Amino acid sequence: MTALLAKMTLEEKIGQLRMRQAGVTAAPADALDAVAKGQVGAMVTAPGVPRKHLRALQDATIRRSRLRIPLFFAADVIHGQRTIFPIGLGLASSWDLEHIALSARVSAKEATADGLDMTFAPMVDISRDPRWGRISESSGEDTYLSARIAGTVVRALQGPSLGATDSLMACVKHFAGYGAVEGGRDYNTTDMSLQRLFQDFLPPYKAAVDAGAGAIMTALTTLNGVPATANHWLLRKVLREAWQFDGLVISDDGAVENLIDHGTAANGNDAARSALMAGTQISMNDRYFGQTLPQLVKQGAIPMEILDEAVLQILTTKYDLGLFADPYRRLRRHERLSAPEPPLHRTEAREVARRSLVLLKNHNGTLPLARRGTIALIGPLADNTIDILGSWSGSGQPEQAVSLYKGMKKILGGQARLLYAKGANIADDPRIFELLADNRVSLDPRPPSELLAQAVAVANQADVIVAALGESRGMSHEAASRTDLRLESPQRTLLQALKQTGKPLVLVLMNGRPLTIEKESEMADAVLETWFSGTEGGNAIADVLFGDYNPSGKLPVTFPRSVGQIPIYYNNLNTGRPFNRQSPAPYRSHYFDIDDSPLYPFGHGLSYTDFHLSGIRLQNPQMVPGKPLHASITLSNRGARSGATVVQLYLRDAAASVSRPVKELKGFQKVSLAPGASRTIGFDIDASMLTFYDADLQLVSEPGWFEVMIGLDSEHVQRARFELLPGTTEVE
Ligand code: BGC
Repeated sequence: MTALLAKMTLEEKIGQLRMRQAGVTAAPADALDAVAKGQVGAMVTAPGVPRKHLRALQDATIRRSRLRIPLFFAADVIHGQRTIFPIGLGLASSWDLEHIALSARVSAKEATADGLDMTFAPMVDISRDPRWGRISESSGEDTYLSARIAGTVVRALQGPSLGATDSLMACVKHFAGYGAVEGGRDYNTTDMSLQRLFQDFLPPYKAAVDAGAGAIMTALTTLNGVPATANHWLLRKVLREAWQFDGLVISDDGAVENLIDHGTAANGNDAARSALMAGTQISMNDRYFGQTLPQLVKQGAIPMEILDEAVLQILTTKYDLGLFADPYRRLRRHERLSAPEPPLHRTEAREVARRSLVLLKNHNGTLPLARRGTIALIGPLADNTIDILGSWSGSGQPEQAVSLYKGMKKILGGQARLLYAKGANIADDPRIFELLADNRVSLDPRPPSELLAQAVAVANQADVIVAALGESRGMSHEAASRTDLRLESPQRTLLQALKQTGKPLVLVLMNGRPLTIEKESEMADAVLETWFSGTEGGNAIADVLFGDYNPSGKLPVTFPRSVGQIPIYYNNLNTGRPFNRQSPAPYRSHYFDIDDSPLYPFGHGLSYTDFHLSGIRLQNPQMVPGKPLHASITLSNRGARSGATVVQLYLRDAAASVSRPVKELKGFQKVSLAPGASRTIGFDIDASMLTFYDADLQLVSEPGWFEVMIGLDSEHVQRARFELLPGTTEVE
C-alpha cells in the first residue's frame, strides 16, 4: 500500500477521497471520464443501477486510469436488496438476533451479486422521538437492544472474511447522535450531556465498531455545537483513540458542503479542510474536496501526512474487500450480463416478517380469525404493495411484493369469503406528500364520501372487519418529520364508521413510527402492529391473523398517548418527585391533562397463548467480587397453543453518584414453549452490567443496592434486590 501511495500524484490521492453518484440509466460519460482520470475513488449507487453500468465504471478505472486503483461501490441496503425484509423497527421488534442476522446475510448475498461492495448500514441511531421519520430505520429507543442488533448485523453483512465474494462491508451510521435531533425535526441540532451520549447513544456505534465494521458514516448534524463531519473530538478522540477504530470514515451525502450552512465553515476551503483534518476521509457526493484540496495541500494548510493517512485508509479498505486481487470480485466479470434475475429469498423474508409483528391488543381472543364466514378487509394499506416495502427498500419491486389482501386470499384458499374496499386514501390533502423525498402514493380520485360508503357497505356484509391503516412509506423516511402522529383524518373517519357497524374490528397498522392511536386502540377489538413488513409482508401478516404463526414480537420503542409526552421512554430517570399512578398527588412530575403513562410500553407484545412468569430468584443477595450473580425465573405457558415470548432482564442502581434510570434492559431471551410447559430462565448478572459514566465521565460501578427486574414487558416486572459489595467496583 505504501509503495502504491508513493507513486500517486496529489490529484490521484485526492481522487481517492471522492465518492460520487453512479447513474441509474447509464454509466454517464463524465463519470467514466472522471474515474479514468483517477478523480473518483468510489461510487454511491442508487437503487436499480444495473451491474453492467458498474462494470463499465470499473472497466474505465482498470483499463484507462494510470494506476488502476479499483473503485468500490456502495449503496443503501438497509432492510434488503431485492428481497425486502421488515424495516429496522420491525426487525428490532422480533428481538430475534438469529433471524435479524439471516436478513442481513441474505441482503449481503443479493447486494454483492448486484455488484456492491459496501452498504450504508446498519443504521444504529437511538431515537426516543417518533416525530423523527428516520426512527423507522432504527432499532428503537433502547441502547442495549440496539447495540446487540448492531453487532449482529455487522457480522452477518461482512461474513467471516471481508474479501469473500458475498461479503458486504458495513458502513455504520450516522455517527453520532443523529436520532436525538431537537423536536424530531430531521437535520436539526443534537445537544446532550456527555454522560447521556456515552451512556445511551454511543454504545450501538461502539458495538458495530467492535464487531469489525469496515466503515462509519458521519451524521449530517451537529453534536453539542460541532458538526459531526468536522468533529475532531468525535472522530479522532472517541472513534480512533478511545475505540481504536481502524476503518474508513465517510461523510454523509453532501455533509462537507453542509458545514457552510452549519456556520462552522466560511467557504468551501474551510469546509474541506475542517472535515479532512477532523478525520472525515471520503466525501460523499463531493464538490469541495475536489475543488479545494489540491490548493490547500500545496499551500500547506493541510499537511501531506493527513492526506496520506486518508488515502492509505481507502486503499486498505479496497485491499480488505479483495478488490486489488480482483476488481471484478462482486461484478462477476465472467458472468453474462443478461443472466436471468436471481430468485428472491421469499421463505426467509416471510419467516423474518412473521417474527417482527407485534400484537398490541387482543380483546376476548378476537384474533386469530376463523377461516369461515365473511371477512371484510378495508383500508388504504390493505391491497398496497408499495408502502408495505417501507422506505429505503433498495432494489425491491412492488410488483414482487405480497399485499395483505393477496396474503389473506391465499391463506384462505376459498374457505371464507374475503371482501375488499379501500375505504379512504392515506390522506386527503395531496400537499402533505408533496415535499416528501419518497412521494410515490397512488391517491384514489373518488370522493372520500364514496370511498367511505363503499367500505361501510362491504363491512356490513361481513362477520369481522380487518382495517389496514397507517402511513405511506415516504411519511416515515429521511426528511419526513411530523408534529401530529395521529392517523390522517380520512383514516380516522373510516375506522369510526367501521366501528359503528358493531362488527368485531381488527386494526392492522402499517407505519414506520409509533403513532398516537389511543382512540383507535379503544375502538378496535384487536390491534396488530406490522410496521412495513417487506416483500412477504402480506403472507406473514395473514399467517398471524389466522393463527398459523403465534405472534411473538415486542415493541422496541414506547407508544405515546399524545405527541405532548415526547420524549417518553422507559429508561427515564426517576426525578425527585416521581408521579405514582396508584396514589396520585399534586406537585409530582407528570402531565395533568392526560393519563401520563405510555399507550403501549417498551417491550410490550401479546401472544395467542398465555405466558406467565413466577418465582424470581437470586442465587445470592450479594454480588461476590469476580463472579457473576445468577438470576432466574420460571416461565410457563398456561395457554392452549405453543408460542414464543421474550423474557426481559432489567436492572436499576438504587443509589449512585449520578441519578440512574428507573430500569435499563441488560439481557433478554426469546423462548418458545409448548402449551402447559414451564422452563427456568436464567441470566448471569456480571459487574459490567452495573457500570455507568459518572460525573467525570469515568466508567464505574459503585457499591450498594441494585434492583433486578424480569418481565415480559418493561412495565410488568418481578423484582429482587442484591448488594454490590465494595471491592468489585473498579472497572477501568
Ligand atoms: C442519508 C444516508 C444515506 C445517504 C446515501 C443520505 O441522505 O442520510 O443515510 O446513506 O443519503 O444515500
